[in-house]
Order: sequence, then structure tokens, then C-alpha cells
Amino acid sequence: MPVREYTMSELSEVLTVCEEDLAEYVRQQNLELKPNGNLTKKSSQLVFEFFQNGVSLNGKKNGIQPNTKDNSFFESEDGRIKIYRQDVLTFLSQLPNESVDLIITDPAYSGMNQMLKLGRGKIIGKYSEKGDGQRWFEEFHDTEQNYHVFLDECYRVLKKNRHIYIMFDSYSLLSLAPLARKVFDVKNIVVWDKLNIGLGHYFRRRHEFILFASKGKRPLSLKSIPDVWRIKRVTRFQYPAQKPVELFEAMLVGSAEKDFVVLDPFLGSGSSAIASIKRNCQFLGCDIAQSSFDTSKKRISNYFSTRRDILQPQCLVVDEAMIKILGNG
Ligand SMILES: C[S@@+](CC[C@H](N)C(=O)[O-])C[C@H]1O[C@@H](n2cnc3c(N)ncnc32)[C@H](O)[C@@H]1O
Repeated sequence: MPVREYTMSELSEVLTVCEEDLAEYVRQQNLELKPNGNLTKKSSQLVFEFFQNGVSLNGKKNGIQPNTKDNSFFESEDGRIKIYRQDVLTFLSQLPNESVDLIITDPAYSGMNQMLKLGRGKIIGKYSEKGDGQRWFEEFHDTEQNYHVFLDECYRVLKKNRHIYIMFDSYSLLSLAPLARKVFDVKNIVVWDKLNIGLGHYFRRRHEFILFASKGKRPLSLKSIPDVWRIKRVTRFQYPAQKPVELFEAMLVGSAEKDFVVLDPFLGSGSSAIASIKRNCQFLGCDIAQSSFDTSKKRISNYFSTRRDILQPQCLVVDEAMIKILGNG
């Protein structure tokens, strides 16, 4: 648990709770404050415990104790795939040190969404259907400080000599990706080429970025993978921002071994979970949204019983080189 002294506003950001609710809880519980108004370490710990769905860790990093009473934990029958509905930082704080073999993730950046309000301040595309101020899903509050906590936690839970892949849009690549270099050894920025243009005010977006980095030393399993991945986007998606399973499979081909524990703390529709099943890995995922949890649970269960992916029935790789790479993995 990342417990230290916190200011009220820091804690409300980290736990994504409203500052007034937090202050009210602190008042009711008569929690100790420092003379400068910060919560003491002990008070911060109690607040963490309360706001993480009643899961008490007693200050120990023993791993997550799933709360199966509410609809926030699902485990596949073979026990290899586990998903949780929880905030990313709370979730990571409960994982033991060096317990994960690979991180592959696609965060919901709030910065990009602010930048989408370009031109005359109108939100474009499907966003506009939600009305002003509405969002597809909860965003991770990617202040520099929060992002640091996120990266530090990823570093802590990742084993030595292992890899991490983090997806970025062009805005967050400029603002947040440089922070990753302070924590991980950044090796590449891979370009995901979606083959068709999307929406945009200036040059129409056809790509996203994937930062590839390591903790310690580890070569890629396959030496012939280029840094541009040509994979079509999901067009008729059933979950916003659903990514192709093959995108995550390419990461696994580069960095996973059989039975590796793969982590995605921004699970979305569960594409990374399906990729992990296909590549014989174990999987741990979390997402703050109930809709993500429900969608992923259904998708994973269905995949286990039918070997069919209900959210992405067709392969989205059309590029010969990419087909060969995925076939080699
Ligand atoms: C870009 S989507 C991930 C899409 C996913 N890669 C897929 O293929 O479906 C980002 C996800 O982050 C989740 N999210 C936002 N804030 C979060 C938070 N604080 N903790 C955990 N998940 C969060 C959103 O609910 C959303 O499902």
C-alpha cells in the first residue's frame, strides 16, 4: 500500500473520491491530522482501507483478498484468469512485490480527452453523442503525481528482468511518457498502424503509440518484430476503446513465456485477457468500471466454453509480416 503522509487533495485524486466525502470521513472517524493539515501515515492507511471496498490489508502486502459478495471479482474455473472491479492504484497497492511477469496496458488518459476539445471547443465523434462533459468511461486522473504513483507501483509489482508495455495517444506521449524513463529502461516506442484514418481536426489519426520498457535486462523472445504493427482497429466495438486482441498478442509474443502472470490494470473489454488465454499465460486484470467487469467476465467465460471471442469474432491482422510474427509466437 503506497502509504505515507498525504494531503486531502492528493488522497482524493489517488482514490478517485470527492474531496468533501473524504474530509467528511476523516471528521467522522476523528482521524489524526498533522499541524499542516496533512493526514498522518496511520490516518492515510485507514482511509485507504476504508475506500478500497472494505478490503482490509492490515498494512501487509499479502495479496488481494477477493470480495466475492459484491460483483467485483471473477476467476476462471482453472484459476488462471482473475479480474477485479477496482481502482488501478488501490488494486496495485494490494499486489505483492515482484509478483507479476509482464504488464500490458492501455490507460484511460484524461489529458487526451481534454485535448479532444480542439477547434471551436466541440467534442468530436462518438464523444459528442454523450453530450458536453460526459465521458465514455471513468478516466484515470493522470496528473504527473498520480502517474508517478502508477509507474512506481508497476515497477514494484513487476519481477526483475521483465517487460512493460503502456499505450499512449499522441498527447499523453508528450506529457506523460517522459516520466516512464525515470522509472523504467525505455527501449522503444512502437507505432500501432490502424491502416484506416480516424477522426481528427488536423492530420487524421491513424496510429497510436506503445511504449516498450524493461525492469532490468531481458531480450525479446523474437528478434524479427518491427516497431510498426499493422493491425486493423475494432470498428463495431461493444466496449468503448476496445483494442484488437492481436495487439496484445504481439506484446506477448515479444515478452511472455508459458504460464507468465500478465497484468492489465485498465482492463476495458478484456482484450488483453483473451490474448493471455490464447498464449497460455495467467492473467490479472482490474478496471474501475462495472461495465468493463461485466463485459470482460462474459467474454472470458464464453471464450473458455466455446473458444470463440464474442467481442472480436474475426482476426484483425491483414499484414503478411504481422501474421507471420503472431504465427511464430
Ligand atoms: C482505453 S480503456 C481500455 C480498453 C482495453 N484495452 C480494451 O481493449 O478493451 C481504459 C479503461 O480504463 C478504465 N479506468 C479508468 N479509470 C480507471 C481507474 N482509476 N482505475 C482502473 N481503471 C480505470 C476505464 O473504465 C476503461 O475501461
